[in-house]
Amino acid sequence: FQPKTLRGKRMLITAGPTFEAIDPVRGITNLSSGKMGFAIARAAQEAGADVTLVAGPVHLPTPRGVRRIDVRSAQQMYDAVLPSAALNDVFVATAAVADWRPASLSDHKIKKDGNKVAPTFELTENPDILAAVAKLPNRPYCVGFAAESHDLLKHAQEKLVRKNVPLIVGNLGPATFGRDDNALMLVDVQGHRELPQADKRTLARQLIEEISKRLSHS
Ligand code: C5P
Repeated sequence: FQPKTLRGKRMLITAGPTFEAIDPVRGITNLSSGKMGFAIARAAQEAGADVTLVAGPVHLPTPRGVRRIDVRSAQQMYDAVLPSAALNDVFVATAAVADWRPASLSDHKIKKDGNKVAPTFELTENPDILAAVAKLPNRPYCVGFAAESHDLLKHAQEKLVRKNVPLIVGNLGPATFGRDDNALMLVDVQGHRELPQADKRTLARQLIEEISKRLSHS
């Protein structure tokens, strides 16, 4: 049993990796499975929220009662999120969005063609979806994620300031991508608190409880 702490609230969640095309058959992506974001969508729906999940390319079933929008690239994720973001009460950015994309997309498969010189790719920066939502005048309560290989707390605190969001959730577990469990660190301006190792479903419920509390105090 879960109390309906988010009844009447609208929540927008990004999840999974993005895929940045190089040519029709290749691209740049990452190992995000989307499991954490999908678990959060499920927990939010169970807590009574009206949930929209914007998902990069993942192999996961849509949680019951959740509205799902599938996208591929960071730009598509941005376009799916920004127009309706301010209509939500909460925005949770769990997606592992590619920071960069190839500056130009080849319309044909890039061939070796006996050429011994490896091709080089110019990259261009992707829009920061979370930072853009946090800048909206009527912004929802924004929650960011941080997956770092070292100095998690320091990086999470920097992200709070740089993206101007009230809560950053750090992945404490080593190589969390694709796993069913994790440990999280909640970081805000007051300090930090750990949610110890558990399966992502349990962590998602704890996080939803935490967000509900913060909403009722804001
Ligand atoms: O900037 P960095 O990738 O370290 O920040 C991670 C947080 O920002 C995550 O919540 C991620 O979903 C979000 N993000 C985003 N758009 C980007 C890059 C990151 O929404 N282009």
